[in-house]
Amino acid sequence: MKPVRKAVFPVGGLGTRFLPATKALPKEMLPVVDKPLIEYAVEEARAAGIEEFIFVTGRGKSAIEDHFDNHYELEQTLGERGKEDQLALLNASKLEPGQVAYVRQMSPLGLGHAVWCARNLINDEPFAVLLADDLIKADKPTLVEMVEAYEEHGGNVVSLMEVPDDHTSRYGIVDPGAMNGPFVEINGLVEKPDPADAPSNLAIVGRYILQPSIMHHLGKGKTGAGNEIQLTDSMLEMIGEAPFTGLRLSGTRFDCGTKSGFLEASVAYGLARDDLGPDLRERLLAVLETSH
Ligand code: G1P
Repeated sequence: MKPVRKAVFPVGGLGTRFLPATKALPKEMLPVVDKPLIEYAVEEARAAGIEEFIFVTGRGKSAIEDHFDNHYELEQTLGERGKEDQLALLNASKLEPGQVAYVRQMSPLGLGHAVWCARNLINDEPFAVLLADDLIKADKPTLVEMVEAYEEHGGNVVSLMEVPDDHTSRYGIVDPGAMNGPFVEINGLVEKPDPADAPSNLAIVGRYILQPSIMHHLGKGKTGAGNEIQLTDSMLEMIGEAPFTGLRLSGTRFDCGTKSGFLEASVAYGLARDDLGPDLRERLLAVLETSH
C-alpha cells in the first residue's frame, strides 16, 4: 500500500460570504486568533506526515504563496531586535523549498474540478484533501487519525459527523453500511440532498484520503448539485473499486465558511489559549451581560 505523502488544498474559492473583507484578501488568510485558516490545515497535514503540499489557487490568491515563503525584511528586523519568539512563529509558517506547489483553477467549476486541477502533481499516489474552511479542534489531528484508518483499511477514507436532519442539504451525505466503533462502511454518497432524500444524517467533513483513480472519474467533467463538478459524485463512482471507509470525527468542527462559525471558532480557540483565555473569558461575559 502506498503511503499518503501528498495533500491538496483547494483555495480557489471567491469567499463572497466574507465580503468586503475578502475583496483583496483570500478567505483562507482570515485569521482565527492570530493564525490564518490555511495554516491550521497545513499544520494538520504536516502532523499526518504529508511531504508535498499542493494548493489549487486562483486569481488574487498570491498572499497564500507569500505566507508560506521567506519574508527577508521582517526576519532581519525581528532578528536585529532579538525577537526570537516572533521569529520562531515566522519560521514555523514556512514550507520547505520544493515541498509546495501551486496550480490554478482557472474557472470556479466546483470542488471536484479543483481537485482534478492537481492531477499531474498527484500522478499515481493516494492523497489527502483538506478544506481549510472546516477547522477542526481535536486532541489528535483529524488527518493523523485518518491516515491511521487508511493504513488499517486501505482505499478511500472520509471524515464524518452527524448533522441535524434539516441540514443535510449543506453537505455530502453518506449511505452507511456496517459500523464498527468510529468506522463506517460507505455504501453510497450524495451531495447536498434535501432532508427527505438523505440516506442518513452522517455528513462529510472537509477531510479526505483518496485513491488517484478519482482523477479519471473527475476528468469526465460531469456536473451535479449546484451545477458544479462535485467531488462527492466521483467518490460515488469509486465505491466497489476499493474499500470506502468513513471515520467519525473525534474533535469539534467549526464551519469557518460562515460568519457565525468563524466567530465561534475565534472564541473557542481564543479561550483555549493560556495567554488569552482568562482575560477573554471575562471580556466575553461582560459583552454578554451588556448586549441584547
Ligand atoms: C464541500 C463538499 C461537501 C462537504 C463539505 C464539508 O461542500 O462538497 O460534500 O460535506 O464541503 O464542508 P461546500 O462546503 O464546499 O459546499
